[in-house]
Amino acid sequence: MSRQLRLGVNIDHVATVRNARGGAHPDPVRAARLAIEAGADGITAHLREDRRHIVDRDIDRLMAEIDRPLNLEMAATGEMLGIALRHKPHAACLVPEKRTEVTTEGGLDVLGQYDQLVRPVGELSAAGIRVSLFIDPEPAQLDAARRLGAPVVELHTGAYCDAVDPAERDAELARIVRAAAHAEAIGLECHAGHGLSYDTVGPVAAIPTIVELNIGHFLIGEAIFVGLTNSIARMRKAMERARSATPAGSGA
Ligand code: PXP
Repeated sequence: MSRQLRLGVNIDHVATVRNARGGAHPDPVRAARLAIEAGADGITAHLREDRRHIVDRDIDRLMAEIDRPLNLEMAATGEMLGIALRHKPHAACLVPEKRTEVTTEGGLDVLGQYDQLVRPVGELSAAGIRVSLFIDPEPAQLDAARRLGAPVVELHTGAYCDAVDPAERDAELARIVRAAAHAEAIGLECHAGHGLSYDTVGPVAAIPTIVELNIGHFLIGEAIFVGLTNSIARMRKAMERARSATPAGSGA
């Protein structure tokens, strides 16, 4: 039997549109409520150091008003650690962050930053927050995540989604498949995300050891044309279709 595949809807870019004009519209918390009604299992929000989309008040409201798990994406800084420990969201996904980047470029270098990650992973875990590390699909990074004691990794699917050349895309997908198998072998829960769309989600959703996908930009963009409920419902269908085609007993 294949494991259930959860969908976390990232609402950051509702806040991006809101912040383009200031004010309160469109409201990312309203989008979170709608996403849950449309089939999201959880809500993901990235509180960036520069507050370019989600702001502190959004996190206060998401914690107070949303009855599904919140996955707080954050850099492993002292400021963010304090915010996470105050709110105690269901999960915290540690991501690398550069002020000048347009989006999260590449995964966290868990190997290279091992010593700096010990405290945040330890303190978040001690507070009962499920820690996930957003990493490139590299076995050495997974091994380092395991040594750190993080229970979850989220594999960065950006290189796979961005690849235009089919051979390159296949190679990137193969890296994700291998990393997901490695995660299972060393006892890590495996999530994936970044850049996923209707065109790219199927092969990732079909990997039986991946149990959660976090998707944002495409869903919010598509919502302009078909509405958020429809864009999420169609994504869920694509995920479920791919998942149910996964052969029984394939490591699930
Ligand atoms: N997962 C993580 C850790 C991310 O940083 C992001 C982007 O904020 C996503 C998933 C969602 O990526 P996208 O918005 O491209 O779907």
